[in-house]
Amino acid sequence: MATTASLKLDDKEFPLPIIVGTEGEKAIDTRALRATTGYIAFDQGYGNTGSCESKITYLDGDNGILRHRGYPIEQLASRSDFVETAYLVIYGELPTLAQRKDFGLLLRKNAAVETQMQKILEGFPTAASPMAMLSALVSALPAYHADLATNNFEKDLQTFDLAAAIAMSKIRTFVAMIYRYQKGLPFMFPKQELPFCDNFLHMMFSEPYKDYIAMPEVSKALNLLLLLHADHEQNCSTSTVRMVGSSASNLFTAISAGVCALAGPLHGGANVAVMHMLQSIHDEGDDGTRFIAAAKSGSKSNRLMGFGHAVYRNFDPRAKIIGEACDTVLKKLGIEDPLLVIAKNLEQAALRDDYFISRKLYPNVDFYSGIIMRALGIPMNMFTTMFAIGRAPGYIANWREVASQPKGRIYRPRQVYVGATKRDYVAIADRK
Ligand code: CMC
Repeated sequence: MATTASLKLDDKEFPLPIIVGTEGEKAIDTRALRATTGYIAFDQGYGNTGSCESKITYLDGDNGILRHRGYPIEQLASRSDFVETAYLVIYGELPTLAQRKDFGLLLRKNAAVETQMQKILEGFPTAASPMAMLSALVSALPAYHADLATNNFEKDLQTFDLAAAIAMSKIRTFVAMIYRYQKGLPFMFPKQELPFCDNFLHMMFSEPYKDYIAMPEVSKALNLLLLLHADHEQNCSTSTVRMVGSSASNLFTAISAGVCALAGPLHGGANVAVMHMLQSIHDEGDDGTRFIAAAKSGSKSNRLMGFGHAVYRNFDPRAKIIGEACDTVLKKLGIEDPLLVIAKNLEQAALRDDYFISRKLYPNVDFYSGIIMRALGIPMNMFTTMFAIGRAPGYIANWREVASQPKGRIYRPRQVYVGATKRDYVAIADRK
């Protein structure tokens, strides 16, 4: 395999090194391009740009492959749980029994939120977007843990284990608090004896004198849902975490920026759009034909939500797992959700349609995740915050990778300026 590419400009050849990843992914290293040729590489939206080397997640969109630290998502989904997978994503190896215990303990010890932080939440209108509340709470964390958030990589890495546990555990507590605040319910304190997902369900659904005891099926389904979101390579919010982190920002600040990026409907908000779509098909008594016809019109606002992906040109492996889990979970909980039937019919119809086949559009993780969340009793406006709990390990691992690079540099892309060329200032009285 070639180790150098060459670029020819005005009869002059410039060598460009080639980088090859451990799974054979090839990249042309253009870092020196501007210095040697005066040109920059242009790639709007970074769709074909490797912004970093990473050891966390391998994603092959053409073949529907997703692996965390080498482990296939299918094996993690069937044999691991969210906390163990989080450890793997963050620290690079599956934990030993002792490491798993210590990590769990650290998460349990750091679940409770300071009373003053509750007041931040209470300052919000109850109808505010849960993602706005969540990002505000996460961005306030450095104020409450200043010793772990010094904005100095060396110092912050020394206290990383605690900061990571606080981020993961408290994001989950914040989400439960936001839910209860919006419903006018008193906050529930976390219970140290409960595992991560059961504790979340307790903080969400317990009543003052009646504890919510999660059925094993419910806690298993929640574990699966969060695990499937644990990391997904350089997606919009994770890249945001890396970008903000690259300015030597502390872990909490970088994560809060990621939470903001996740809020958009094309990223973390797509699961809500899918449910709206399925609900309107249900309400109109349509079989989905109208939605498929509209999606084929090419208009961005009529897309079949939960279909297609920026990098998968094959089945999103997470969608396969979650689609199958939907059946099992709903059956075990004795729930018959008409939206699941609609989703399945819609999927089959789309997969038979030339428009979707020729464009390699398959269901993505969001196509079925909303149906599972609905079965667990999580309201639609909280769906994106659930995604944030799941993605926290990915954000943490990516921040750590940025902070640990000995020769890391601040993210600072360039642009091709297409605005007005130089002109002289005109006094206001002389302007037309
Ligand atoms: N419905 C109908 N047509 C579609 C869809 C869709 N959902 N997605 C893509 N297309 C069309 C698109 O119009 C284009 O058609 P043409 O070649 O005729 O111009 C063709 O398929 C190729 O599009 P693309 O370049 O693959 O799409 P993209 O990379 O610009 O967008 C996407 C990726 C995920 C934003 C898009 O597929 C979409 O809007 N899907 C619906 C929203 C959604 O489900 N988002 C969740 C993504 S998974 C969660 C996450 O990772 O955050």
